[in-house]
Amino acid sequence: MSTLFDIAFAKSASLDGGLVVQLKLSGDTKAAGAAEADPADIVTRAAGIAKFKGKAFSTLDILAPEGSAADRLVVIGLGKAGSMEALDWLKVGGTAAAAVKSAEKLTVFLDAPGASVGAAEAAGFALGMLLRAYSFDQYKTKKKDDDEKDNQKNGKEKTVKVTIVTAEAASAKKAFAESEAIAGGVNLARELVNLPPNILGPVEFADKAKALETLGVEVEILTETEMTTLGMGALLGVAQGSVRPPRLAVMQWKGGKAGEQPIAFIGKGVVFDTGGISIKPGAGMEDMKGDMGGAAAVAGLMHALAARKAKANVIGILGLVENMPDGNAQRPGDIVTSMSGQTIEIINTDAEGRLVLADALYYCNERFKPRFMINLATLTGAIVVALGNIHAGLFSNDDTLATELAGVGEVTGEKLWRMPLGKEYDKLIDSRFADMKNSGGRQAGSITAAQFLKRYVGDTPWAHLDIAATALNSPSNEINQSWGSGFGVRLLDELVRAHYEG
Ligand code: BES
Ligand code: MN
Ligand code: ZN
Repeated sequence: MSTLFDIAFAKSASLDGGLVVQLKLSGDTKAAGAAEADPADIVTRAAGIAKFKGKAFSTLDILAPEGSAADRLVVIGLGKAGSMEALDWLKVGGTAAAAVKSAEKLTVFLDAPGASVGAAEAAGFALGMLLRAYSFDQYKTKKKDDDEKDNQKNGKEKTVKVTIVTAEAASAKKAFAESEAIAGGVNLARELVNLPPNILGPVEFADKAKALETLGVEVEILTETEMTTLGMGALLGVAQGSVRPPRLAVMQWKGGKAGEQPIAFIGKGVVFDTGGISIKPGAGMEDMKGDMGGAAAVAGLMHALAARKAKANVIGILGLVENMPDGNAQRPGDIVTSMSGQTIEIINTDAEGRLVLADALYYCNERFKPRFMINLATLTGAIVVALGNIHAGLFSNDDTLATELAGVGEVTGEKLWRMPLGKEYDKLIDSRFADMKNSGGRQAGSITAAQFLKRYVGDTPWAHLDIAATALNSPSNEINQSWGSGFGVRLLDELVRAHYEG
């Protein structure tokens, strides 16, 4: 259960108990809100004893500070003056959220002397709090640790009242509406990735997409019959080994000018990937519940864009299937015909994501003629080997789009590394029996997967993000404690905001 924060902004606050957070630059003697919270300059004294230097995201914890109305005073370091970037404010917010524990009331003095704190920084701080607060523990019925117990009242999650004190209170409050939209999107994506595969099948995932209608997103759910009529033989070939029928979710957010060409995001939504007949080894197979991380990111993005009423026309498409071995499953050697008419020889039934995306991409391009298509997919183990969980792989047929994406990745901390495409790689997926094969073998596994997708996008500007290492199994940090990271939501929200709105 996540902690719930009820966040308000104010120009000043009177203290009567609760947790107080102040910020401090390294090298600065005074912390924010010093007059209200530490009358006896208790911070300077405690910092000296604890050798607290104000290093970025370090904390100084003072209990029952004498002469102060606060129950507890936590000072968070900001590092050197002028060193704080947009993402750092999220991390400070996350650090503050982590300090809450048993408190029911939190007052944050945001205006650190020497650090310039405006509405954007305040909203970033609040976004960091909301991201840090997310946890997935609805299936833990026993063994709550003490912190969690402290955070609950009668077994229910507890709401913490937060007052963020800043001179920019009014504009910060406005900016915070966007933080809530983005946090909602990221936390939705995390939740979808974390949910177990018995609970979240293609139909259930489609229901979650449908629920975005409450935010004003138009949602159509295509059934197996409709996909058969459309000739989506590649996607359907993957789905045929599962007793759970596939779905294609088509979402439209029309926040831009009427008739303006949309931009499109497409997600791989393999709710569980056993590998099919080319079955995966047992060790770690449970992680393949997260093989819908691309679709989760697209759903989360649509949530964020709709909730903050982005001024853009945006399409979101999710290819939702389960890859299972079965008497009816597809075989290596099978040849399937994709919606584009191109035929595919199945070499390895575990290379299923590209089959799902081939039809989803082609359908998107034909129906919507978008300005660009960006697909997200937990596509290859090879990208895990190549880039680890530091960068996601970026493949593109368009230098402008690739540059924009890499740029926003630096801003949000969802880093991308561009990988090559080229004729020589493309040749590796030519097939003896069909137009192409779905696996190019051991060499350049992530690149040949991208080359495969490229055969379904025509001349439309396109980028493929291989998020196999970054969407799941995520390391904990200041703003994320969840296994499913929600990678891609803030990234693409920022792409839309910076380059495709208004
Ligand atoms: N879903 C996997 C890729 C993956 C691996 C995602 C690790 C997340 C973590 C994908 O469907 C897959 O199995 N890819 C194969 C392709 C191969 C058979 C050509 C792979 O990477 O081994
Ligand atoms: Mn697979
Ligand atoms: Zn897969």
